[in-house]
Order: sequence, then structure tokens, then C-alpha cells
Amino acid sequence: MAAFRALVVHSQTEALGELVEVLAGPQLTVDTARSMTEALNRASQQDYAVVVADHRPPEMNGLELLERTQAYLPDALRILLAASPDAAGDLPHKPAGTIFRFFARPWERWQLQAVVAEGLKLHRLEREQRDLIQKLGREHEKLRKREKLLDVVVKERTREIEDAYLKLKAANRQALLGLAEAIEAKDAYTKGHCGRVAAFGMHLARACKYPEADMEALEFASFLHDIGKIGIRDAVLLKPAALDPEEWIHMRTHAVKGYEIASQIEMLKPTMSAIRNHHERWDGAGYPDGLKDTSIPLAARIVCIADAYDAMATDRPYKKALPSEECEQLLRKNAGKMFDPELVEIFINSGGTRLMEQVATDEAAAAEAAAAEAEAAEAEAAVERAVTIPAAAKV
Ligand SMILES: [Fe+2]
Repeated sequence: MAAFRALVVHSQTEALGELVEVLAGPQLTVDTARSMTEALNRASQQDYAVVVADHRPPEMNGLELLERTQAYLPDALRILLAASPDAAGDLPHKPAGTIFRFFARPWERWQLQAVVAEGLKLHRLEREQRDLIQKLGREHEKLRKREKLLDVVVKERTREIEDAYLKLKAANRQALLGLAEAIEAKDAYTKGHCGRVAAFGMHLARACKYPEADMEALEFASFLHDIGKIGIRDAVLLKPAALDPEEWIHMRTHAVKGYEIASQIEMLKPTMSAIRNHHERWDGAGYPDGLKDTSIPLAARIVCIADAYDAMATDRPYKKALPSEECEQLLRKNAGKMFDPELVEIFINSGGTRLMEQVATDEAAAAEAAAAEAEAAEAEAAVERAVTIPAAAKV
């Protein structure tokens, strides 16, 4: 079967026969029509690649016929067959399709074959191009769907990994903070110290515009600054009296011990310097490295002030808690000696030395709530006992 079909329209049977003879071949099946009505009827039912119409008005208006086939066969090659240019008239070129004029006397019609062959070649190329575009469109759509699916899967997996990471991080955090609390729990006087130093350290960090991205590491460093005390002998750590020189030397090793612990734990690595250097002094007389002023890491300078303020504002075996005014005086007195003077001013001016009052209020509220809860539990237990004892007595 030929790849294409042509429709040839002519009012004369003999001419139709000649045209079929010229055009029909292995690539082209030729149908014929003798009137406009018959031609339009065929064009509406069959897909023609070529329409050839004789133009011989008023008997056969080929121009009008070709224009009307546009509605059924928008891609067809339309050829108007006329005996002379005068007979073809003035042909319009429409945007949707072009009508080719072919001028030939009856014995020259064989030349039409070359025109149609060229037209078919063009038609074949267009058809291949259209098929290719459709195929590309389908492949593109498939790819788009696959990409969308992949995107959903990747987002879902990312969310799962993030959730797992956050859970793991929270578990690690709890474990590490628990360790710090276990150390301070040995000593009733330092109970809650790590948590308060973390709160004061965060307050000062925010006030001095410490980088947001490093806040979490600083919070850890504040909380775990004394983690090295895990390696301090209880006799020294818990001694209720002043330490002798040898004991002081041992106590001071907690800074390096803490640094060594932090260096073994991936999550604590960003906190290492703050843990090691939180006992350095601004004047260089601190330990363990004798660092001076701004050579002391900023995180360590912040933890140092937070740690010292907590020591000033809480009861210790050797002294009573100082009120906020005295804490301010003491901090200012030691600014430029023990502490970074700029940070001391920021801490005081941002209300840092009044934070302990808030802690005391919070602790009192928490203690009150705990006492109320214990009272309620006791009342409930009493009711239960009252109901249970008579029932047991019956047995
Ligand atoms: Fe310390």
C-alpha cells in the first residue's frame, strides 16, 4: 500500500485518467472526483497528502475548492492546475496553507509528477518531524513525572534523615547534659550550676551579638565547661574547706581534662576551646595556657563571666550569695584583670546581673508546684488506703 493518497479533481473523465496515470505510483494512491461536492465529500472522509484541482471557472472553480479543503486537510499540498497564468487568476496566500499554481497545457501535465514528488518529500519530512516532536513530548512528560516522583522520594528520605538526626542529636544532648548534671549532683552547693551558667552564657552571647550559627556550641560549652571535674578526686572536689596548693594544682587540671574529653566526642569538638580556656584571665594570669585578652577565645571569655557570676550570686560553703549590686561591683572591679571589660559592661547593661533573681523566682515557683503535686498524690493515696483496708478486712 502506498504511503500517501492524492485527490485529483477534474470535470473531464479523460483528463482525470491522464492525471491518475501521471501521478499514481508505489508512493501515491490516487483518488478522483469530478465535482466540487464529490471532492469535498472525499476530503472530509480521507486523509490526503495532495489535492490537485483543475481551475476552469465557472465549470470548475478549483481555487474555491482548494480553499475549502483547508478545513479538512490543513497539511495537504494543494495544487491548482491551470492552462495559463491568466486562467489561474489572482491567488491569495493564506497563513494556514499555501496553494501552488501549476500552469501546463494538457500535453505538459507530466511535469506535475516532479512537483508532487517534491511536495511529498516535504510532506514526509513534516510528518517525521511531527512524529518526532510528539515522541519527544511523550518522553519529556515521562521524564517530568519521573523527576517529580524522584523529588517526592528525595524529600521524604531527607525528612526521615533529618528527623532521625534530630532525634539522635536530642538523645546525645540528653546524655551529655545528664553527664554534666551527674558531676554537679555530687555537690549540693553546685546543684543547677551548669544549667545556670548555660542560661547566663546565652544571655551574654545574645547581648554581644555572638554568631547565631555558633550559639548551640556555646550553649554546650557553657553547660559542660566543668566536665573535666569527672577526673577530679572526690576528696578535692567535695572538700568543704579551702584547698591546699597541691589540691589546687589537681583541681586546675579539670580544664585540660575537659578539653581531652570534648576532643573525643564529635558533638563536643566545637566546644573544646571554651572548655579548656574558661579559667584564663584577661591579664594573662589564668590557666591552663596563660592566654591574654583577645587571644582568649570569645566563647571562653563569655563562659568565664557566666561561671563567675553564678559563683557570686549563689550560696557556697565558704560564702553567702551576693546581691546583684555587689555582683556588678565585683565584676567591674575585676574587669580588665580577670574578665573582658567590654563583655562585663555588656553583661551588666543588658540586665545579666539580675538574672539570678529570675532564676530564684522560677525555682520557687517550681518548688511550689512540686509541693502541691506531692500533696495531691498523698491525698489520693490516703483515699485509696481508706477504700482498700475495709475491703481487705472482709476476706
Ligand atoms: Fe571550671
